[in-house]
Amino acid sequence: MSEPTLERDGLPDPSRKAQVIRGMFDRISTRYDLVNRVMTFGMDVGWRRRAVRELRLPGGALVADLACGTGDLCDELLTGGYRAVGFDFSHGMLRNAGTSAPLVEADALRLPLADGSVDGATCGFALRNVTELTALFAETARVLRSGGRVAFLETSEPDGRLLRAGHAVYFKRIVPLIGGALSDPEAYRYLPRSMAYLPEPARLLSMLADAGFAGIERIALGGGVAQLLVGTRR
Ligand SMILES: C[S@@+](CC[C@H](N)C(=O)[O-])C[C@H]1O[C@@H](n2cnc3c(N)ncnc32)[C@H](O)[C@@H]1O
Repeated sequence: MSEPTLERDGLPDPSRKAQVIRGMFDRISTRYDLVNRVMTFGMDVGWRRRAVRELRLPGGALVADLACGTGDLCDELLTGGYRAVGFDFSHGMLRNAGTSAPLVEADALRLPLADGSVDGATCGFALRNVTELTALFAETARVLRSGGRVAFLETSEPDGRLLRAGHAVYFKRIVPLIGGALSDPEAYRYLPRSMAYLPEPARLLSMLADAGFAGIERIALGGGVAQLLVGTRR
């Protein structure tokens, strides 16, 4: 049977989103890191480092990296002195991971973790990719102990009109060309379109508050092309 792919609007059929996304990441897993470095001019490395720095947990704290992909955030967590465990549902991404952190093939919406069992959670560039964002925030809140910290890293759109226009050209036109040349054209056409799944910043903050987080901050990165949402489990 052939793989289900994208609909005419460039997004998956909602009822098959998880299956399509998993298949897409399986397909691009071998060149995922390379395309990230090229399309962000290497800035993604610093963004992940910042996400880990903003956790501000004691050394040795246990941090779950949700939708860990090839494990770049896990590596940053280990370098930052934390214990890390990564979770992802794409077998291909996990197989191509180079991190020494333990990795688990699992759905981030149904984590194989007990309530309140981790000190921190990170999640890089996956908010657009889950089927239900409220469910991801609720599941993250469930596994975090009270006082635990969370850092969600995501793409974003810059504020100013000029920057926004320049970014739109780069993200919607150039990124699909780079991704298409180095990896899978369909996956990198999906990337800019997947911004449609991402709520506006104010909505993201209120969703996190509703899920049980306090002291939530949004930090713009790379001139606003990425964003970091951090908070503390109440
Ligand atoms: C853009 S990649 C990000 C990978 C990594 N976090 C990083 O910073 O490079 C998105 C990842 O989310 C994973 N993903 C999406 N939905 C998921 C879910 N429900 N459960 C587990 N992983 C999921 C995909 O398999 C993919 O590896």
